[in-house]
Parts: sequence; structure tokens; C-alpha cells
Amino acid sequence: MTTHDSTIPSTTESGAPRESDAHSLSVGPNGPLLLHDVALVQKLARFDRERVPERSPHAKGSGAFGEFVVTHDVSAFTKADFLQPGTTTRSLLRFSTVAGELGSPDTWRDVRGFAVRFYTQEGNFDMVGNNTPVFFLRDPMKFPDFIHSQKRLPDSGLRSNNMQWDFWTLSPETAHQVTYLMGDRGLPKTWRHMNGYSSHTYMWVNEAGERFWVKYHFHTNQGVENITNDEAAKLAGEDADAHRRDLFDAIGRGDFPSWTLSVQLMPYAEAKDYRFNPFDLTKTWSKKDYPLHEVGQLTLNENPTNHYAEIEQAAFSPSNTVPGTGVSPDKMLLARVFSYPDAQRNRVGTNYNQLPVNAPVVPTNSYDKEGSMEFHHSGAAPVYAPNSYGRAYQDEQGPVDNGWESDGEMVRSAYTLHSKDDDFGQAHTLIREVYSQEQRDALVETVVGSLLGGVEEPVLSRVFQYWTNIDAEVGAAIEAGYNAAK
Ligand code: HEM
Repeated sequence: MTTHDSTIPSTTESGAPRESDAHSLSVGPNGPLLLHDVALVQKLARFDRERVPERSPHAKGSGAFGEFVVTHDVSAFTKADFLQPGTTTRSLLRFSTVAGELGSPDTWRDVRGFAVRFYTQEGNFDMVGNNTPVFFLRDPMKFPDFIHSQKRLPDSGLRSNNMQWDFWTLSPETAHQVTYLMGDRGLPKTWRHMNGYSSHTYMWVNEAGERFWVKYHFHTNQGVENITNDEAAKLAGEDADAHRRDLFDAIGRGDFPSWTLSVQLMPYAEAKDYRFNPFDLTKTWSKKDYPLHEVGQLTLNENPTNHYAEIEQAAFSPSNTVPGTGVSPDKMLLARVFSYPDAQRNRVGTNYNQLPVNAPVVPTNSYDKEGSMEFHHSGAAPVYAPNSYGRAYQDEQGPVDNGWESDGEMVRSAYTLHSKDDDFGQAHTLIREVYSQEQRDALVETVVGSLLGGVEEPVLSRVFQYWTNIDAEVGAAIEAGYNAAK
């Protein structure tokens, strides 16, 4: 039975009017988010529980273990133990598609997940990124809606190009990522032939307490290679697990794939006046302004011995940081820090961190306790802090070393604009200055093909306008291509 009324303004689940379906509550336009934003917390918590037990997004994937070796000295920028020169750290990397379900083909056009775990001597550090340096959104309030629009229609259970384009064109901040997605990188040849990016800006802190904003880039040493729409469609039919198979077979025959980790570093104070808001996930930082510093090599050399135990139950999270690292005021990132462990408590179980693939290699002493499947426990030790019976606890006070200053009114708004912030500028640069004419032609063909797959008015006209905003010539070619083919 349908119990809602689509004609009234949207409400929380308890029936109160929502203030916004697009903006989370922050301290000032750039400020941190607030736990008492019931609308955001409820929206994400509900999203995290949408499916049991496959991952809500990024369900289809696979991965392997390996090692990360630091080859260059970045100790001037971070005190993190695993980033000190010469250090080798056991690692786990899981690749995935975003929208497809557990059994879906590896070669459907999509962004690819690139989630790396480092089992460091200071606890697990996870870099949960994608194969593109930007994302569709800049506010987490929209994330569940975005994923819904990429998955399936409520009545037929079918995927829908119309639904995808409807969401994208009503959220113009998607333009940069959609330009990547409709280009070559939407169809990587294999997981070994693609790069990985943090996309978000994170923080590094050195021994002296100096802070830097950082973006991680993992460049494939196999070279970036992509496939065409026809090749992808053929593979999807012939071998839905083509990418999973390729990785497992390559490692099995001793052909170990590797990636070079480099970082872009921005001194803390420069964030304020950079021409793009450096915490806006839909933007990149120019490499001319912030060149790459090489850090080390990540090599995958060990297949899982049990896919379910070691890959399906792996629980990566941007909340897994270590001393010398931290998050940034990127609102998407701040919300992810809540959302992943919340999803994993549901997907895997309350004590998911006790499973071998998720347990840190260092001992833990946490006052969190019990819940289903508790295996490791604290015996008869005190179950509360502070206590007088010898169980250690901390009580540091004052500013944290990986924090930032923020002050302001509590608002629901987009970020404060920096001088070059707009939704289409960087997408235009990508399409005009990075893509070749051949790549632009392929993009036009891909978009036209997608529109012919059931996109209807008023979405269709908005798609033509969206691409015209990115690039007038490409917009016109898409409209002409569609009219000629329909
Ligand atoms: C507010 C924004 C976002 C939310 C709420 C969100 C939420 C989630 C959730 C709930 C999962 C499933 C976790 C699990 O069950 O283990 C997931 C998986 C994943 N997400 Fe996000 N996500 C967001 C944005 C992003 C962004 C911006 C990126 C990349 C830069 C990203 C990359 C990934 C990857 C790679 C996985 C799969 C991790 C794995 O291999 O296990 N997500 N996301």
C-alpha cells in the first residue's frame, strides 16, 4: 500500500517538514557538519541499510593483497609511520563498479571503486577512492538520491537512462564527473589498467605540527587502457566477471600489477584563497599549481584464499585514519566518515572489525563492547573509563593536531564560492583541452546512444542544454546526433 503523498513537500520519516533535500547543515558555508542534522543522519542511516548483505553501492568487485613500499621521503609533510622512507606495509585493494549488483557485468559503463587498505603499525589506514579524480556531488544529502537514480526503477525493477539523466541534469555539479564517465574512463580495459584517486582532499600533519592539504593519486604502472562500447557490450555478455577474472589470473601467473602513489600537497593557509574551493569534490587542483610528489609503490602479489571471507567481508572506510593524517572540511568526506562504519555494522555485523581481514595488525584497547558475534573481548578488565583499576584510557584536551578552524552560523548552503568556482568550467577544460577530437566524437556517440535508450522530455531538452553549458560544439553535436538517429 502506498502511504505517502507525493504532492506535499518532503518530510522526515516522522512526518516533520524537511528543510532541504539538497544541503546538509554546516557551521558556516564551508564548515563541518553537525550530528544533530536529523535529516542528513536519518537519510544516510536509512541508505546504509537498504540492502543486506551486499554493499549498498559498489556491490560488484574483487581485490587482492599486496605491499606498499615508500620510495621517496615525504617526512617533511607527514609523520605517519607507514609513509616514512623505506617502510613496507601489507595492503589490500578492492576494485568495484558503483551501480551494479553483486552479479552484474564488470564492463557496464560506470565509475570504478579503488579502495586501498594499509595495515600500518599505527592501525588501519584506508583510502577509499575511485578511478576518477572528482565526484558527481558536493553535498552528502544528495548521495542516496544519486545512487537511487543509478540503480533501478521502483515499478519495473529496470535500470533507466531517463532516471540517470534526470538526476544529473537537475544537479549541474555532476557535469565534471559525467564528462569523465561518458569519456574513455567509463570503460576501463581491466582494473590493472586504471588509476585510482582519493578525489577528496585529506590532511597530512608533520612532526612539527604543520598541516598540509593532500590529494592521493595512484597511477597504474600497466598504463591506462580503455575499451569501446562495442567491446564492453560483447564482454558483458560473454564474461560478466571479466575484470575479476583478469586480476585473479594475472596475480596467479605471477604478473603482479603495481601503482605509483603520488600526492598533491597544498600548504594549509593556501586553501582560503585558491581559485577553486579545494574542498569541493567536483573540482581538481591544477597540477601546475600543485605538482605531484612521488611517494611509493603499491604492488598486488597475493590473491585472496577465500573471496567471501577476505573480499566480501572487507569493510573499508574513510574513517580509518592514523596519526599524521586526517580529513578535511569536504562535506562529502565528513559524511562518509559516519556512513561506512554504520553500513558495515549492518552489512557485516557489529563486530566486523574483529574479522581477520578487518582487524588491525596492532593490539586494540577499546571500551566498545559486546553485540552480535563478539569474539575478542577484554576479559574481566574494567568496562568503563575513567577507572581506578589499571585499564588505560586517554583524556587529551584542547585543539587536535589534524583539525581546522571554523566558525559561523549554522546554515544549509553550498560552499562559499572561490573565484573560479562554477559547475561547468572544469568539465569544459577536460573535454576541450584534455580529450582529443577522437575522444570527443566517442563521447558524443556514447551520450547519443544513452539518450536513445528511453530518455524522454523534459529530461531530453535538459540534457542538450547541460552539454551545451559544458561545451557548445559538443552540445550541438549531441543534439544533431540524436535527431539524426531517432
Ligand atoms: C556522501 C557520500 C558517500 C556516501 C554516503 C557513501 C556511502 C557508501 C557506502 C554505504 C558504501 C558501502 C560500504 C560497505 O558496505 O562496506 C560505499 C562503498 C564505496 N564507496 Fe562510497 N559513499 C559516498 C561517496 C563516495 C565517494 C566520493 C567515493 C570515491 C571518491 C566513494 C567510493 C566508494 C568505494 C570505492 C566503495 C567500495 C569500497 C569497497 O571496495 O568495499 N564513495 N559507499
